[in-house]
Formats: sequence, C-alpha cells, structure tokens
Amino acid sequence: MRNISLIFKQFSRSVLLVAGLVVCGLTAHAQTDAAKGEAIFKAKCTACHKIDTRMTGPALGPQLTQETDDAYLTKWIQNNQALIAAGNKKAVKIFNEYNQAGMTVFAELSDADVGNVITYIRADWKKIQDDKAKAPVSATPEDKGPSALVVWSLLGVIVIAFIVILVLNKVIATLERLLLNRQGLAFEEEAEEEKAPADRLATVKKLLKNKKLVFFIVLCGTIAMGSFSWVTMWNTNVHQGYQPVQPIKYSHQLHAGAMKIECQYCHTGAFKSKNASIPSLNVCMNCHKSVKTESPEIHKIYDALGYDPNTAKYDSTKAKPIQWVRVHNLPDLAYFNHSQHVKVGSIKCQTCHGQVQEMQEVYQYSPLTMKWCIQCHKRTEVNGKGNAYYDSILAAHDKIKKGEKVTAAVLGGIECGKCHY
Ligand code: HEC
Ligand code: HEC
Ligand code: HEC
Ligand code: HEC
Ligand code: HEC
Ligand code: HEC
Repeated sequence: MRNISLIFKQFSRSVLLVAGLVVCGLTAHAQTDAAKGEAIFKAKCTACHKIDTRMTGPALGPQLTQETDDAYLTKWIQNNQALIAAGNKKAVKIFNEYNQAGMTVFAELSDADVGNVITYIRADWKKIQDDKAKAPVSATPEDKGPSALVVWSLLGVIVIAFIVILVLNKVIATLERLLLNRQGLAFEEEAEEEKAPADRLATVKKLLKNKKLVFFIVLCGTIAMGSFSWVTMWNTNVHQGYQPVQPIKYSHQLHAGAMKIECQYCHTGAFKSKNASIPSLNVCMNCHKSVKTESPEIHKIYDALGYDPNTAKYDSTKAKPIQWVRVHNLPDLAYFNHSQHVKVGSIKCQTCHGQVQEMQEVYQYSPLTMKWCIQCHKRTEVNGKGNAYYDSILAAHDKIKKGEKVTAAVLGGIECGKCHY
C-alpha cells in the first residue's frame, strides 16, 4: 500500500509540473503577442487613435468591443481604402461618420501583426475598465484627507490629557501643602510671597524717577509706531507678491518654461496693443484636444467650452466660461500700454513681471506704484535709432528750427494710441 501511494504522489507531482509549464508557456506566448501588438500600435496608430478616447479616429477600445468580425477588421487595418472603394457597407458608414477623415493604409502589416494589435487593444481596454471599476473604492478615502472622526478623537485625547495633568497638579500641590503643614513651615512660605510684590513696586518707582530712561523708552515707542504707520501708508493698495488661486491649475513653469512656448503665442496683444490679453481657451485646445485628455484639470477646459471629448463636438449651450483671477491691476487713472514698452522700448516681459517661466502660479512681481514707473523712466535710455516715430520728432524739430509750419500730426497726433485706450 505504501508503495502505491508513493508512486501516485510522484505521478501527480509530474503531472502538476507539466501542467504548470504549459500554462506558463501559454501566458508567455500570449504576452509576447500583446507586446508585439503594443509596439506596432505605438509606432503606427497613436498619431490618430487612443484606446479610451476619441481622437482623429475612434476610441479603439470600445470600437473593437463593438466590432467583433476580426476578418473585416484585418482587411480594414491593412487597406481601408480598398474596402471603401469596393463599397463595403460598414467601411463606408464609418468613413462618413468621421467626415471622411481617411485612415492610412498599412499594407506592410501581415495578418499575424494585425491579430497582435487587435489582441493588445482588447487586453488594454479590458485592463482600463478593470482599473476603473476598482478605482473609486481606493480613491475616495484618499481624497477626503483625515476624516472628521479622526480629528475629533484626537482633540478628545488632547483634552483628556490636559484634564489629567491639571488634576495631577492639584493632587501634588495638596500633598505638598499637607507635608509642609505637618512640618509647620506653611506660614513662612506665605509671608515670603507677600513681601515680593512690595519689593517689585519699589523697583518700578525707582526706574520711573530716572528721566533719561523714561525719555529713551518714549522715543523708541514713537519711532516704532511712526515707521510702522509710514510703511503701512506707503503700501496701501500695493499688492506686490499677490498670488491668487486660479480656477485651472495652469502652470507657466511647464508651458513657458519646460516647453518653451513663446509668451506672445498666448499673450498676443503684448506686442501690438495696450493689453497683453489672456488667451481664450481655444488656444489651449490647439494642444489639449489630444494632450492629457484624461486629466480632470483639462476637463475643466472642456466643460468651459461645452466640448465633449467623446464626440469631439462643441455645444455652446453647455459652455460656462472660465473666470481667471486678475493678478495685475492698475487703477483706471493710469494709462499703461504694453506695445509701447515691449515693442518700442524693447523691454523684456521679465523686467516687469519677473521670471514668469519659472512660476508654477503667477504672482505680482513689481510693486506697480507710480514711483516704480517714474524711476524706470528716469533710468532707462531710449533707443531712438531706426524708429520712425523718433525720426518724425527729429524732423519736426528741424522744421521748428527753420520756422516752418508744424502740425500736431507731425508730432504723432494721429497715432491711434494717443486718443484711444
Ligand atoms: C492618419 C490617421 C490614422 C492612423 C495612423 C490610423 N488610423 Fe485607424 N482610423 C482613422 C480614422 C479617421 C478612422 C475613422 C474612419 C475614417 O474616417 O476612415 C479610423 C478607423 C479605424 C478603425 C475602425 C474601423 C471600423 O469599421 O470599426 C479601426 C479598427 C482602426 N482605425 C484601427 C487602426 C489601427 C490598428 C491603426 C494602426 C495600425 C490605425 N487605425 C491607424 C485614422 C487613422
Ligand atoms: C500656453 C499659454 C501661455 C503662455 C505660453 C504664457 N502664458 Fe501667461 N498666462 C496664461 C494664462 C491662461 C494666464 C491666466 C491664468 C494665470 O494667471 O495663471 C496667464 C497669466 C499671465 C500673467 C498674469 C496676468 C494677470 O492676471 O495680471 C502674466 C504676467 C503672464 N501670464 C506673463 C507671461 C509671460 C511673461 C510669458 C512668457 C514667459 C507667458 N505669460 C506665457 C497663458 C500663457
Ligand atoms: C503647445 C501645446 C500646449 C498649449 C497651447 C497648452 N498646453 Fe497645457 N499642456 C501641454 C502639454 C504637452 C502638457 C502635458 C505635459 C505632461 O506630460 O505632463 C500640458 C499640461 C497641462 C496641464 C496639466 C495637466 C495635468 O493634469 O497634469 C494643465 C492644467 C494645462 N496644460 C492647461 C493648459 C491651459 C489652460 C492652456 C491654455 C491657456 C494650455 N494648457 C495650453 C501642452 C499645451
Ligand atoms: C514696463 C513693464 C511691463 C512689461 C515690459 C510687460 N508688462 Fe505686462 N503688465 C505690466 C503692467 C503695469 C500691467 C497691469 C496693466 C493694467 O492693469 O492695466 C501688466 C499686465 C499684464 C497682463 C494682464 C492682462 C493685461 O493685459 O492687463 C499680462 C497677461 C501681461 N502683462 C503679460 C505680459 C507679457 C507677456 C509681456 C512681455 C511680452 C509683458 N507683460 C511685458 C507691465 C509690464
Ligand atoms: C522697465 C522700465 C519701465 C517701467 C517699469 C515703466 N516704463 Fe513706461 N516706458 C519705458 C520706456 C523705455 C519708454 C519709452 C519707450 C519708447 O518710446 O522708446 C516708456 C514709455 C512710456 C509711455 C509713453 C511716453 C510717451 O512719451 O509717449 C507711457 C505713457 C508709459 N511709459 C507709462 C508707464 C506707466 C504708467 C508705468 C507704470 C505702471 C510704466 N510706464 C513703467 C520704460 C518703463
Ligand atoms: C486725435 C484723436 C484720434 C485719433 C488719433 C484716432 N481717433 Fe479714433 N476716434 C476718436 C474719437 C474722438 C472718436 C469718437 C467719435 C464719435 O464717437 O463720434 C473715435 C472713434 C473711433 C472708432 C469708432 C468707435 C465706435 O465705438 O464707434 C474707431 C473704430 C476708431 N476711432 C479707430 C481709430 C483708429 C484705428 C485710429 C488710428 C489709425 C484712430 N481711431 C485714431 C479720436 C481719434
């Protein structure tokens, strides 16, 4: 009997081993298929497709779940134009659905290659959906931070500890007094305590009689108060360092710094008008139609424009414009013109706004006081060479010298900016 069970054990072991090897081999095989597919997908398809969202072409995850005819899909991927030309109903339908955008022909892909791509897309889509199904359970507690229960119980512990300390203190004091009473020392201690305040009062009186000292203290007080109110008054309405929280976590450090997008790509007005202007969200959409489409911050742009990333359509009735919080704000009584400074004066944005390309969130770098404007006007040399405006002023000077007629127009009186804000 013992022998039989031994043999049986050995047999079952080897069967398990073989089975294990086969399973491993199969999964390894499947993995290489999906991996090959992924490589092809990344190299040839990502320009127009994503697995989970629509880009130029459909979101392939849902598309390949819906369309299960692999023979048709293979033909489509290898040569969609042949299918459309042959009048295949499905092919013509999707071609028209996507405004005849047209997909590239991939004649170089073998049937096996296409099979691998399809395997990869379906596997990845399944993974994305599985992750989504799991996500809410683990994500919500993280978002909420410490729960109210934790905060309250911590507070409770602190209060209880405090009470315990108080009670213990009382107990120790009573015990000490009892001990002292027993030794007949209590009265001595009380007497000492009474003597002390009288002593202190005497010292204060002595000090108050010292006139030099009193004068010195009053002087210090006046200087401190005076300089405090001086600084406060000068800084009223000066918002240097003001850094409001913006409705979208847009970063200049990323866009203007790391990605080196020119300032005037977004602030188009800076070179040609009074206002530098804040870009409309359509400027952001030039990239964010397809960049970071899954980010909740980017979805704020979509919501503001009433844009639906799945259909790539705008619905203006759903649009609710973003309200950026203004950082710089001169009072209406002062006229400041960007083009005058940036274009004519050739002053860099950074001279007045600081290293914006390194700021995660923009803040007011300069004080924007009248003193600030005036000081710079006193110090900055103007380059009048090759500038039509200054040339015309020089010409006017010559005319005045020669006693010729000079009109306001010659002095720049018909420049739009002289009369218009
Ligand atoms: C140049 C852009 C472009 C590239 C690259 C591209 N596609 Fe497409 N694809 C499209 C467009 C656009 C459509 C929608 C139909 C149309 O307008 O022709 C589409 C449709 C599809 C469909 C849907 C067909 C149907 O009837 O359901 C599949 C599947 C597909 N593409 C797979 C791929 C695969 C796989 C690759 C990479 C090997 C790829 N595409 C590369 C643009 C592209
Ligand atoms: C991709 C677009 C983009 C680029 C590039 C860009 N900005 Fe901005 N800028 C914005 C947006 C959007 C805001 C409004 C939100 C904010 O204040 O962060 C803004 C705000 C600002 C503000 C504050 C405006 C106010 O409310 O007073 C300044 C100053 C500024 N940008 C300067 C610059 C400078 C300088 C550069 C180049 C180094 C630059 N920006 C490049 C989009 C851009
Ligand atoms: C020239 C292309 C381009 C333009 C224009 C552009 N962005 Fe971006 N933006 C990007 C890229 C690329 C990234 C992602 C970088 C990365 O991979 O983290 C990004 C990232 C972001 C992020 C961070 C998203 C996240 O969750 O990490 C926000 C928010 C954002 N952009 C807002 C804006 C806003 C608002 C505008 C318009 C004022 C804008 N962008 C204009 C290319 C652009
Ligand atoms: C000589 C200083 C100076 C220079 C140079 C300068 N700015 Fe400004 N900028 C200001 C002042 C002052 C304001 C506030 C204007 C107001 O409130 O009317 C401002 C406001 C802004 C605003 C807020 C919107 C607006 O138009 O009022 C943006 C955006 C801005 N600047 C971007 C830029 C960019 C980009 C450059 C470089 C191309 C630049 N600035 C160069 C002084 C300057
Ligand atoms: C960084 C230095 C600098 C700062 C700061 C500055 N300016 Fe200027 N500003 C100039 C220069 C340089 C010119 C002359 C440009 C030119 O015509 O060549 C100028 C010209 C002007 C002009 C046109 C003057 C004319 O004769 O037509 C006005 C108006 C003006 N600035 C207003 C302001 C105001 C308002 C502020 C403060 C909010 C300010 N500037 C801050 C450098 C500065
Ligand atoms: C000498 C001052 C002056 C100059 C220079 C000037 N304008 Fe005007 N402009 C005015 C006045 C005043 C009005 C308002 C007239 C009215 O309401 O009947 C006006 C009205 C306008 C209007 C109509 C605005 C409206 O709401 O009806 C436009 C547009 C305009 N100007 C553009 C320009 C352009 C562009 C330039 C430069 C080529 C320019 N202006 C130069 C004084 C001037």
